[in-house]
Amino acid sequence: NHNHNHNHHFRHADSTASLPSSAVAKISHLKAVVLGDAPASEEDDVVLPSHEFSRQALVPSQQKYLEMYKASIENPAGFWSGIASSEFYWKQGWGDQVYSENLDVRRGNIKIEWFKGGITNVCYNCLDRNIDAGLADKIALYWESNEPGFDATLTYSQLLQRVCQLANYLKSVGVRKGDAVVVYLPMLMELPITMLACTRIGAVHSVVFAGFSSESLAQRIVDCKPKVVITCNAVKRGPKTIFLKDIVDAALIDSANKGISVDVCLTYENQLALKREKTKWKEGRDIWWEDVVPKYPTSCDVEWVDAEDPLFLLYTSGSTGKPKGVLHTTGGYMVYTATTFKYAFDYKDSDVYWCTADCGWITGHSYVTYGPMLNGATILLYEGAPNYPDPGRCWDIVDKYKVTIFYTAPTLYVTRYSRKSLRVLGSVGEPINPSAWRWFFNVVGGSRCPISDTWWQTETGGFMITPLPGAWPQKPGSATFPFFGVQPVIVDEKGVELDGECSGYLCVKSSWPGAFRTLYGDHERYETTYFKPFPGYYFTGDGCSRDKDGYHWLTGRVDDVINVSGHRIGTAEVESALVSHPQCAEAAVVGVEHQVKGQGIYAFVTPVEGISYSEELRKSLILTVRTQIGAFAAPDKIHWAPALPKTRSGKIMRRILRKIAARQLDELGDTSTLADPGVVDQLIKLADT
Ligand code: PRX
Repeated sequence: NHNHNHNHHFRHADSTASLPSSAVAKISHLKAVVLGDAPASEEDDVVLPSHEFSRQALVPSQQKYLEMYKASIENPAGFWSGIASSEFYWKQGWGDQVYSENLDVRRGNIKIEWFKGGITNVCYNCLDRNIDAGLADKIALYWESNEPGFDATLTYSQLLQRVCQLANYLKSVGVRKGDAVVVYLPMLMELPITMLACTRIGAVHSVVFAGFSSESLAQRIVDCKPKVVITCNAVKRGPKTIFLKDIVDAALIDSANKGISVDVCLTYENQLALKREKTKWKEGRDIWWEDVVPKYPTSCDVEWVDAEDPLFLLYTSGSTGKPKGVLHTTGGYMVYTATTFKYAFDYKDSDVYWCTADCGWITGHSYVTYGPMLNGATILLYEGAPNYPDPGRCWDIVDKYKVTIFYTAPTLYVTRYSRKSLRVLGSVGEPINPSAWRWFFNVVGGSRCPISDTWWQTETGGFMITPLPGAWPQKPGSATFPFFGVQPVIVDEKGVELDGECSGYLCVKSSWPGAFRTLYGDHERYETTYFKPFPGYYFTGDGCSRDKDGYHWLTGRVDDVINVSGHRIGTAEVESALVSHPQCAEAAVVGVEHQVKGQGIYAFVTPVEGISYSEELRKSLILTVRTQIGAFAAPDKIHWAPALPKTRSGKIMRRILRKIAARQLDELGDTSTLADPGVVDQLIKLADT
């Protein structure tokens, strides 16, 4: 009873003539099912948007998308300035140039600027502007506690008051425009409140995911030298209590030893997790949020800033060395996150939106806080674990709040409840395989809801390749086509652009408003990492193929970065944590496919001479990684290695290690160039010990 619908909506738009091949679909004779008609079976290659969905969508057809896309590429200045001036408040307009850019290292320093000279404020645009437009009493935030039964709400005007009180407090302790504030908070309402309070006064927040260890936190504090650190005493995650303040205490001692001392540690008393009497305290430095913040006035003047003034820093992992401080600025990021949110989720004022990401990651910045709030959306924040107290929790929450847009990583799933309220689904963080896609579509969305599989990165600020739900026929597992203004290109290893059906390295030509502008304090590393590999382009670090119909398929990282449950981890960071263990001589870390987490962390470890392999050592190595980076970076497997496979020049051959880790032993390839080919057999023998 499948309603297969051959070639139903596919009409070739005439406006495609001058478009880059990345945006042209040439679909022919694929098996398709229409949204809402029937589940997508394994044979269905395409899911078509229904007339019903498309009719109400912001971008109702492929034709309309192509028109808008074409306009955005042919005249980026006109396209983006039109949106920027009609949908946001600017105290003062930008200069003659909407944007200026140099993405080509051969022509000098890399530089990207959007709306330079324009004066605005992101917090004002999120709150005051929406309140002035009549949203004062609309729910801005629903908060759902880890413990079922505990929840809270804030309207837009209540949120503004809370934000202003904190902003006033921060000013009173000397935080000024351009100062950094480190935030180490779980998913309490106080987290977006803090982000917005910083933004209001022009301070630069640096949110550190509250799963990072004290050492990682210290490293970030030392790098950005904040005036204030904001945290809470503890949080419950599932059945466990995590003592965040203890972690911050240790980080502050650590950073003081490295010459960076922080005068103020503002601490929220999270009463559901821990009473203040039980919290360790350093008089003079530590201050209870509840004792000071509510005393401040509920209004606070906005600090008007330039579009190119910094908005926030967010550290992310690279393939080598220490974490990189990705810097986003004000105007372009604001316009880009708001616009991508609106179109990719086909946002309506009546939507209730839930993104399961933590604000400690970019998804939580762009699509928990800024993008939705700039649209005046009602946002759900969930504090806890997706499977607590049972695996149905997420679906309970969807039903409780009548969530209409649900945006998550393709990792959490159990079927149980009806999810009638859902309208649009989103997926992010890792490639979603076609059967997971079908499951998400059929079971979670009842084959009614389009899926926006959004490909993007910390660096890109917002969505880059994503379906627009009313416009595109969707192929399970494909992120489909570029967002407005984005020109993805696939290049070969020499940097030559490939056309048509192809596979290679994913790059981006020209800038887009949400692009990051530098790595904090290290512009050279910014240029080397992202712009030197393929001169003339921004290099994403991802592999990608394009099929004959023009659809994009992300194939994962091509560098030494792993994605574990949507958490980005550099193999080099895990290796350096392992080798800091006194009994570890050498370590090499690779990613392996993991049923639940997308990728798992697989570590080859050579102990120092005289130390034997033992369960104890294994545990202690894992503990070292947990304390140095965080629990989420703990290796799933320690594989004992008498030695590592190296070339004669001493380079570790990771290609071989990846094959051994994946147990693809017949695909090891040429091992004759190894200094000692016998190493491979030894490793294979030790695989399951
Ligand atoms: O490899 C890609 C993968 O996540 C990387 C970016 O990680 P991060 O900066 O932590 O941001 C995660 C949330 C945007 C990318 O280089 N990735 C992200 N989204 C997708 C994806 N891979 C495949 N499909 C996606 N939709």
